[in-house]
Amino acid sequence: MAQINCEQTFIEDDISKVVEELAKNRNQSFDVVMTSFVLHHLSLAQKDKVIEQVSHLLKTNGIFVLIDIVCKEEEDKEHFVNRYLENMRQNWTALSSQDMSIMENHISTYDFPETQTTLYQLAQKHNFVRFECLYKDTPEAAQFLCLTFQ
Ligand SMILES: C[S@@+](CC[C@H](N)C(=O)[O-])C[C@H]1O[C@@H](n2cnc3c(N)ncnc32)[C@H](O)[C@@H]1O
Repeated sequence: MAQINCEQTFIEDDISKVVEELAKNRNQSFDVVMTSFVLHHLSLAQKDKVIEQVSHLLKTNGIFVLIDIVCKEEEDKEHFVNRYLENMRQNWTALSSQDMSIMENHISTYDFPETQTTLYQLAQKHNFVRFECLYKDTPEAAQFLCLTFQ
């Protein structure tokens, strides 16, 4: 990010609170808001609220860059987690069995990924008009989404 030649604001905080506080104080608006692998920790209602507040932070044609794990369309959270863990067991070979067990517990307990359609529907509800997936990883677990606000 440091290589991109533009003014940047990095915020480390609870996303649910910080976007609400920033949106209340409407004298700040942004061309791009980016989150990376955070939204899947929120409930569907919290994701809805965050996307709504992000829409209040963006300029017209502003973009919400949403990088996150995303379920396949036909998949629920449980199937996603099983598939993701299986991929980890096969490929994350540098992890000790203790590390793997911590990761498995964390992912099974705290990860609530949505499908791309659900994320797009939430965005559409809050006046985002263009939905693009610029990258999907090979295990079909993570996506780089760009949501453009009208
Ligand atoms: C998988 S890590 C991603 C870290 C980093 N953003 C990245 O892309 O590599 C998930 C991060 O989400 C953070 N997190 C969980 N709930 C959050 C929330 N409500 N607001 C902001 N960050 C949160 C966790 O503390 C953790 O650092």
